[in-house]
Amino acid sequence: MKESPSIQDSTKKANTQLTASRQARRVPHRKRLRERLALLARKILLSMRTHYLRQLGMDIHVDTQISLRAYLDKTNPSGIHIGQGTLVAFGAVILSHDLARVLHTDTYIGQNCFIGAHSIILPGIRIGDGCIVATGSVVTKNVEPNSIVGGNPARVIRSGIRTLKWGMLEQSYWEAFQLQQASDAKIDSGTK
Ligand SMILES: CC(C)(COP(=O)(O)OP(=O)(O)OC[C@H]1O[C@@H](n2cnc3c(N)ncnc32)[C@H](O)[C@@H]1OP(=O)(O)O)[C@@H](O)C(=O)NCCC(=O)NCCS
Repeated sequence: MKESPSIQDSTKKANTQLTASRQARRVPHRKRLRERLALLARKILLSMRTHYLRQLGMDIHVDTQISLRAYLDKTNPSGIHIGQGTLVAFGAVILSHDLARVLHTDTYIGQNCFIGAHSIILPGIRIGDGCIVATGSVVTKNVEPNSIVGGNPARVIRSGIRTLKWGMLEQSYWEAFQLQQASDAKIDSGTK
């Protein structure tokens, strides 16, 4: 049976739309793959760097993220101690020696801490578990566990916080998670 021109037209239109939507979907897929590959390459680089720093004699847990642009004191490598699940952001400086005071000492950073971008941790400092060092801080005194410190010299901004891996604030993490779920649900209902 021959289809009427109107049916032919609408089928053609539907096919065109289907192809367009498939193509539209294919682009983010390809992008996602590229992003995943880039992230994987970065992860490999970061773990190679951690391995290198451990080879130098630093006491760094394998499950840490040390930015490629963070500076960890290589003059006294065995004085650097960093716990599991801690992230050291770009530009952060962690010292374990001081020529001015003729000092070679140990600097400790606990587990699940976040050391903010361009912060400086002076030699001999002990930062407890679950701490956040705000960006640009200069830490001159020991930091109690579960605190946020900031400024130069760093002062306690908040205490009694709870952090997850990479020093993510537990509360902020769950808030972000709920927002993401709500936005995913919105997208899903829009595509149906
Ligand atoms: C510290 C940080 C986590 C925010 O914590 P918060 O508890 O939400 O802090 P708020 O923004 O509510 O500010 C609280 C106080 O801390 C101060 N503060 C915040 N960041 C600060 C910083 N970097 N240095 C000094 N003081 C800071 C605020 O001025 C405020 O002071 P006030 O109470 O006198 O007004 C955030 O400022 C930060 O530094 N994040 C790290 C960013 C980073 O390094 N990113 C790298 C890439 S991952």
